[in-house]
Amino acid sequence: MNVRPVAPADAAQWRRMRLALWPDSVPDEIDQFFTGLLHEPLAVLVADDGGALVGFVELSIRNIAEGCSTDRVAYLEGWWVDVGKRRQGIGRALVRAAEEWGRAQGCSEFASDTEIDNEDSAKAHAALGFEEVERIRCFRKSL
Ligand SMILES: CC(C)(COP(=O)(O)OP(=O)(O)OC[C@H]1O[C@@H](n2cnc3c(N)ncnc32)[C@H](O)[C@@H]1OP(=O)(O)O)[C@@H](O)C(=O)NCCC(=O)NCCS
Repeated sequence: MNVRPVAPADAAQWRRMRLALWPDSVPDEIDQFFTGLLHEPLAVLVADDGGALVGFVELSIRNIAEGCSTDRVAYLEGWWVDVGKRRQGIGRALVRAAEEWGRAQGCSEFASDTEIDNEDSAKAHAALGFEEVERIRCFRKSL
């Protein structure tokens, strides 16, 4: 299993996993990413199991992140491993590669978030050394 940057030939497999993680995500964003038209994510790493992609991370750099003290924070925007491939260390390998990416970007902090009721994600974050720093509620109204 190899963790590497996503490539245009991965578009269909990345789209499949992205829709599994975010059913409301916009498929066009994949093409926009490869043409450089997408502001975020800044980088995408995939877990390649002999040509079959089984997981991905989407990464950005935020100037503000909850609980962080620096203004250039590597951020785990998305983290996915296919259901049948979980608990085998693939999520850990993706996060380790993401941390290397963050260091190479000059970041000294790495942050993430998850839905308040996603206990599996919270446990996986904790197992990888993340500390929970805040719980927030989000609001909207039409203008
Ligand atoms: C979160 C996710 C990416 C973890 O992937 P994974 O490949 O199963 O993770 P790993 O096998 O590398 O596990 C990493 C660590 O987290 C722990 N962990 C993973 N899933 C866990 C769970 N459900 N309960 C408790 N601990 C868990 C592992 O035990 C491991 O720690 P250890 O090495 O000390 O044992 C995967 O569960 C997933 O895709 N979930 C659905 C999407 C999601 O919730 N993403 C995160 C929010 S965006």
